[in-house]
Amino acid sequence: MPANDLNLLQAQAELKIAAADSDTLEELRVSLLGKNGAITAELKTLGAMDPDARKARGAELNVLKTVITQALAERRAVLDAAALESRLAAERIDVTAPVRPEIAGAIHPISRTTEEIAAIFSAMGFAIKDGPDIENDWNNFSALNIAAHHPARAMMDTFYLQGGEVLRTHTSPVQIRTMLEWARSQTAQATAQPIRIIVPGRTFRADHDATHSPMFHQTEGLVIGRGITLGHLKGCLIDFLRAFFDNPALPVRFRASYFPFTEPSMEVDIGWNRKTGEIGAGSDWLEILGSGMVHPNVLANCGIDPREFQGFAFGVGIERITMLKHGIADLRLFYESDVRWLRHYGFASLSPAMLHEGF
Ligand code: PHE
Repeated sequence: MPANDLNLLQAQAELKIAAADSDTLEELRVSLLGKNGAITAELKTLGAMDPDARKARGAELNVLKTVITQALAERRAVLDAAALESRLAAERIDVTAPVRPEIAGAIHPISRTTEEIAAIFSAMGFAIKDGPDIENDWNNFSALNIAAHHPARAMMDTFYLQGGEVLRTHTSPVQIRTMLEWARSQTAQATAQPIRIIVPGRTFRADHDATHSPMFHQTEGLVIGRGITLGHLKGCLIDFLRAFFDNPALPVRFRASYFPFTEPSMEVDIGWNRKTGEIGAGSDWLEILGSGMVHPNVLANCGIDPREFQGFAFGVGIERITMLKHGIADLRLFYESDVRWLRHYGFASLSPAMLHEGF
């Protein structure tokens, strides 16, 4: 190709580059600079030239190659910037636009109940703790005074993992973790800063029907300190239940029961009307939670001297009290992710659970 033809090649390439879109620009690059490209072909002819001609032609070709490479890069930058602009324009979100009710979400009733429980116990000075879903046998059972042969293990049959770990059957193992940590911390014991925690979270049992789910939610509570009595337990739980069901006159009854980890143990019942389902009315009783004074063996297992420290614990099923409070008939509906159900039973995301406003 004569020298002035390189000018023509450059002029034509520059025109095409200026008009190219993202795809054709890549095609152009290949057709000019690729393995079989026009400029590459010119470079290949250098080998057969005599040294002087090669020197002159080589210099021209190098300039051409640089100019074209730069033109391709500049066009690429322009195209990329334009693509980004149009994407930003297309994806713009108008945060001032009104809510579209057909796509608005809602707070799930389980989350709402958890928030309400947290608000009530925070006001009583409890901290909120959590722990892992996968637990070791000792934290979930043995430390809680449930021996390996104990029938309570069958009542809480769970999912066993390789290596002997379990999916926790209750949130009580977080109580064990908290007490161990507390006992290890000399200052906590010396200054006797009481433990006051609630533990909301996921729990697992090998059950599945209209009132049992293999995964459900619980909140347990634990108080440890000097001179903690059954009176504290009763006052605390009565206050909790009356606040949660928004009824200051709610009848509450404590009934002797058995749990391996508490002594004495009590089921807590609330007054209701069995026929209408109305809470706080009528003369029937409904079992609502388990509670008791922490068993001395459990304290000792955690390195706490039961002669010096006492405490109480309780556990409540979040689904259960949510179903009662809002008249939800089937437990399984909680987990079906049906938006129509959520729209009916869910809560507005901008009105958080606040104790002073009542629930
Ligand atoms: N851990 C018990 C359960 O899940 C509940 C409970 C906790 C009962 C604390 C008494 C005291 O069944």
